[in-house]
Amino acid sequence: NHSLNIAIDGPAGAGKSTVAKIVAERLSYLYIDTGAMYRTLAYAALTENVDVNDGDALKALLDHVTIELVNDESGLKVLLNGHDISEEIRTIEVSKQVPLVASHELVRVEMVERQRQLAAKGQTVLDGRDIGTHVLPDAKVKVFLTASVEIRAKRRHEELLKKGYSSDLEELKKDIAKRDEIDSTRAFAPLRKASHAIEINTSLLSIDEVVDAIIDLVEDSV
Ligand code: C5P
Repeated sequence: NHSLNIAIDGPAGAGKSTVAKIVAERLSYLYIDTGAMYRTLAYAALTENVDVNDGDALKALLDHVTIELVNDESGLKVLLNGHDISEEIRTIEVSKQVPLVASHELVRVEMVERQRQLAAKGQTVLDGRDIGTHVLPDAKVKVFLTASVEIRAKRRHEELLKKGYSSDLEELKKDIAKRDEIDSTRAFAPLRKASHAIEINTSLLSIDEVVDAIIDLVEDSV
Protein backbone atom coordinates (compact mmCIF):
# COMPACT_ATOMS: atom_id res chain seq x y z
CA ASN A 1 0.00 0.00 0.00
CA HIS A 2 1.78 3.11 -1.30
CA SER A 3 -0.07 5.35 1.10
CA LEU A 4 1.93 3.93 4.02
CA ASN A 5 5.17 5.26 2.61
CA ILE A 6 7.21 8.35 3.43
CA ALA A 7 8.81 10.36 0.62
CA ILE A 8 11.83 12.51 1.40
CA ASP A 9 13.14 14.63 -1.46
CA GLY A 10 15.53 17.54 -1.77
CA PRO A 11 18.81 18.72 -3.24
CA ALA A 12 22.21 17.09 -2.69
CA GLY A 13 23.51 17.13 0.86
CA ALA A 14 20.37 18.43 2.59
CA GLY A 15 20.58 15.52 5.05
CA LYS A 16 17.99 13.28 3.42
CA SER A 17 19.73 9.94 3.90
CA THR A 18 20.84 10.63 7.47
CA VAL A 19 17.34 11.65 8.47
CA ALA A 20 15.54 8.98 6.41
CA LYS A 21 17.61 6.22 8.02
CA ILE A 22 16.74 7.33 11.55
CA VAL A 23 13.06 7.88 10.76
CA ALA A 24 12.91 4.37 9.29
CA GLU A 25 14.58 2.90 12.39
CA ARG A 26 12.24 4.72 14.77
CA LEU A 27 9.14 3.52 12.90
CA SER A 28 10.53 0.07 12.03
CA TYR A 29 10.05 0.96 8.36
CA LEU A 30 12.32 -0.11 5.51
CA TYR A 31 14.74 2.56 4.28
CA ILE A 32 15.24 2.74 0.50
CA ASP A 33 18.10 4.94 -0.73
CA THR A 34 17.13 5.60 -4.36
CA GLY A 35 20.22 7.77 -4.92
CA ALA A 36 22.36 4.71 -4.15
CA MET A 37 20.63 2.89 -7.03
CA TYR A 38 21.53 5.64 -9.53
CA ARG A 39 25.04 5.81 -8.04
CA THR A 40 25.45 2.06 -8.53
CA LEU A 41 24.52 2.32 -12.20
CA ALA A 42 26.92 5.26 -12.62
CA TYR A 43 29.68 3.21 -10.96
CA ALA A 44 28.93 0.24 -13.23
CA ALA A 45 29.04 2.52 -16.29
CA LEU A 46 32.41 3.95 -15.24
CA THR A 47 33.95 0.53 -14.64
CA GLU A 48 32.46 -0.97 -17.84
CA ASN A 49 33.35 2.07 -19.97
CA VAL A 50 29.74 2.78 -20.88
CA ASP A 51 29.14 6.36 -22.07
CA VAL A 52 27.11 8.25 -19.46
CA ASN A 53 25.48 10.26 -22.27
CA ASP A 54 24.18 7.14 -24.01
CA GLY A 55 20.74 6.33 -22.56
CA ASP A 56 20.27 3.15 -24.62
CA ALA A 57 23.62 1.74 -23.54
CA LEU A 58 22.94 2.60 -19.89
CA LYS A 59 19.52 0.95 -20.04
CA ALA A 60 21.12 -2.18 -21.57
CA LEU A 61 23.68 -2.18 -18.77
CA LEU A 62 20.97 -1.72 -16.13
CA ASP A 63 19.03 -4.67 -17.58
CA HIS A 64 22.06 -6.89 -16.97
CA VAL A 65 22.89 -5.94 -13.41
CA THR A 66 21.29 -6.54 -10.05
CA ILE A 67 21.26 -3.74 -7.51
CA GLU A 68 20.44 -4.71 -3.95
CA LEU A 69 19.99 -2.52 -0.91
CA VAL A 70 20.82 -4.71 2.07
CA ASN A 71 19.95 -3.77 5.60
CA ASP A 72 21.40 -6.18 8.16
CA GLU A 73 23.18 -6.14 11.54
CA SER A 74 26.34 -4.73 9.99
CA GLY A 75 24.41 -1.76 8.61
CA LEU A 76 23.27 -0.63 5.17
CA LYS A 77 25.05 -2.01 2.14
CA VAL A 78 24.68 -1.63 -1.59
CA LEU A 79 25.42 -4.66 -3.75
CA LEU A 80 26.13 -4.63 -7.49
CA ASN A 81 25.78 -8.17 -8.85
CA GLY A 82 26.30 -9.39 -5.30
CA HIS A 83 29.47 -7.34 -4.67
CA ASP A 84 29.58 -4.77 -1.90
CA ILE A 85 30.26 -1.40 -3.56
CA SER A 86 28.92 0.79 -0.73
CA GLU A 87 32.16 2.80 -0.49
CA GLU A 88 32.92 2.98 -4.20
CA ILE A 89 29.65 4.71 -5.07
CA ARG A 90 30.44 7.66 -2.77
CA THR A 91 33.53 8.92 -4.61
CA ILE A 92 33.65 12.41 -6.13
CA GLU A 93 33.94 10.86 -9.59
CA VAL A 94 30.70 8.88 -9.20
CA SER A 95 28.97 11.93 -7.67
CA LYS A 96 29.93 13.98 -10.73
CA GLN A 97 28.71 11.41 -13.26
CA VAL A 98 25.53 10.22 -11.56
CA PRO A 99 23.27 13.17 -12.53
CA LEU A 100 24.13 12.54 -16.18
CA VAL A 101 23.31 8.84 -15.82
CA ALA A 102 20.08 9.74 -13.99
CA SER A 103 18.97 12.22 -16.64
CA HIS A 104 17.93 9.55 -19.17
CA GLU A 105 14.24 8.70 -19.29
CA LEU A 106 14.95 5.04 -20.19
CA VAL A 107 17.10 4.67 -17.09
CA ARG A 108 14.58 6.43 -14.84
CA VAL A 109 11.57 4.42 -15.99
CA GLU A 110 13.36 1.19 -15.07
CA MET A 111 14.67 2.55 -11.75
CA VAL A 112 11.23 3.85 -10.79
CA GLU A 113 9.72 0.46 -11.59
CA ARG A 114 12.25 -1.21 -9.24
CA GLN A 115 11.64 1.40 -6.55
CA ARG A 116 7.88 0.96 -6.69
CA GLN A 117 8.34 -2.79 -6.31
CA LEU A 118 10.52 -2.28 -3.25
CA ALA A 119 7.90 0.05 -1.77
CA ALA A 120 4.87 -2.02 -2.74
CA LYS A 121 4.36 -3.54 0.70
CA GLY A 122 4.29 -0.14 2.34
CA GLN A 123 6.00 0.98 5.56
CA THR A 124 9.01 2.33 3.72
CA VAL A 125 10.96 5.56 3.76
CA LEU A 126 12.31 6.50 0.32
CA ASP A 127 14.72 9.36 -0.24
CA GLY A 128 15.60 10.86 -3.60
CA ARG A 129 14.66 13.66 -5.98
CA ASP A 130 11.35 12.56 -7.53
CA ILE A 131 9.76 10.35 -4.86
CA GLY A 132 6.88 12.65 -3.91
CA THR A 133 6.31 13.93 -7.44
CA HIS A 134 6.73 10.78 -9.46
CA VAL A 135 7.71 7.50 -7.77
CA LEU A 136 5.08 7.53 -5.01
CA PRO A 137 2.60 10.33 -5.67
CA ASP A 138 0.27 8.78 -3.05
CA ALA A 139 2.83 8.65 -0.24
CA LYS A 140 1.23 9.40 3.12
CA VAL A 141 3.88 11.90 4.16
CA LYS A 142 5.96 13.98 1.76
CA VAL A 143 8.88 16.02 2.97
CA PHE A 144 11.15 18.36 1.03
CA LEU A 145 14.45 18.99 2.83
CA THR A 146 16.51 22.04 1.95
CA ALA A 147 19.52 23.97 3.23
CA SER A 148 21.78 26.61 1.72
CA VAL A 149 24.56 25.43 -0.62
CA GLU A 150 27.12 26.74 1.91
CA ILE A 151 25.74 24.64 4.71
CA ARG A 152 25.29 21.55 2.56
CA ALA A 153 28.87 21.78 1.28
CA LYS A 154 30.20 22.37 4.79
CA ARG A 155 28.43 19.29 6.14
CA ARG A 156 29.72 17.11 3.33
CA HIS A 157 33.21 18.58 3.86
CA GLU A 158 33.22 17.70 7.55
CA GLU A 159 31.85 14.25 6.83
CA LEU A 160 34.67 13.55 4.34
CA LEU A 161 37.36 14.85 6.69
CA LYS A 162 35.96 12.75 9.52
CA LYS A 163 36.20 9.64 7.35
CA GLY A 164 39.84 10.49 6.62
CA TYR A 165 39.37 11.69 3.03
CA SER A 166 40.84 14.93 1.74
CA SER A 167 38.29 17.56 0.79
CA ASP A 168 38.20 21.01 -0.77
CA LEU A 169 35.25 23.08 0.45
CA GLU A 170 35.10 25.45 -2.54
CA GLU A 171 35.31 22.52 -4.94
CA LEU A 172 32.46 20.79 -3.07
CA LYS A 173 30.29 23.91 -3.28
CA LYS A 174 30.74 24.00 -7.04
CA ASP A 175 30.04 20.26 -7.40
CA ILE A 176 26.88 20.43 -5.30
CA ALA A 177 25.53 23.45 -7.16
CA LYS A 178 26.28 21.80 -10.50
CA ARG A 179 24.56 18.56 -9.45
CA ASP A 180 21.45 20.45 -8.29
CA GLU A 181 21.35 22.31 -11.57
CA ILE A 182 21.46 19.13 -13.68
CA ASP A 183 18.90 17.40 -11.42
CA SER A 184 16.51 20.38 -11.48
CA THR A 185 16.65 21.06 -15.20
CA ARG A 186 16.39 17.56 -16.68
CA ALA A 187 13.30 17.01 -18.83
CA PHE A 188 12.00 13.84 -17.20
CA ALA A 189 10.99 13.87 -13.51
CA PRO A 190 13.30 16.69 -12.39
CA LEU A 191 14.01 17.56 -8.76
CA ARG A 192 10.87 19.37 -7.52
CA LYS A 193 8.99 19.85 -4.30
CA ALA A 194 5.72 17.91 -4.59
CA SER A 195 2.68 20.15 -4.32
CA HIS A 196 1.66 19.05 -0.82
CA ALA A 197 5.12 18.28 0.50
CA ILE A 198 6.13 19.90 3.77
CA GLU A 199 9.33 21.87 3.27
CA ILE A 200 11.83 21.74 6.11
CA ASN A 201 14.88 23.99 5.94
CA THR A 202 17.51 22.04 7.87
CA SER A 203 20.10 24.86 7.94
CA LEU A 204 19.56 25.71 11.58
CA LEU A 205 18.15 22.41 12.81
CA SER A 206 19.87 19.42 14.39
CA ILE A 207 19.38 15.95 12.94
CA ASP A 208 17.14 15.05 15.89
CA GLU A 209 14.97 18.11 15.35
CA VAL A 210 14.41 17.21 11.70
CA VAL A 211 13.67 13.57 12.59
CA ASP A 212 11.19 14.65 15.28
CA ALA A 213 9.45 17.00 12.85
CA ILE A 214 8.97 14.16 10.36
CA ILE A 215 7.77 11.71 13.03
CA ASP A 216 5.23 14.36 14.10
CA LEU A 217 3.99 14.60 10.52
CA VAL A 218 3.59 10.83 10.39
CA GLU A 219 1.68 10.79 13.67
CA ASP A 220 -0.53 13.68 12.55
CA SER A 221 -1.39 11.87 9.35
CA VAL A 222 -2.86 8.74 10.97
O1 C5P B 1 20.85 11.18 -3.05
P1 C5P B 1 22.17 11.07 -3.74
O2 C5P B 1 23.01 12.29 -3.60
O3 C5P B 1 22.92 9.83 -3.42
O4 C5P B 1 21.76 10.96 -5.29
C1 C5P B 1 22.75 10.91 -6.29
C2 C5P B 1 22.17 11.36 -7.62
O5 C5P B 1 21.24 10.39 -8.10
C3 C5P B 1 21.41 12.67 -7.63
O6 C5P B 1 22.26 13.79 -7.75
C4 C5P B 1 20.52 12.51 -8.86
O7 C5P B 1 21.22 12.79 -10.03
C5 C5P B 1 20.21 11.03 -8.83
N1 C5P B 1 18.92 10.73 -8.23
C6 C5P B 1 17.79 10.91 -8.99
N2 C5P B 1 16.57 10.55 -8.51
C7 C5P B 1 16.46 10.01 -7.28
C8 C5P B 1 17.60 9.84 -6.46
C9 C5P B 1 18.82 10.23 -6.97
O8 C5P B 1 17.88 11.41 -10.12
N3 C5P B 1 15.25 9.63 -6.86
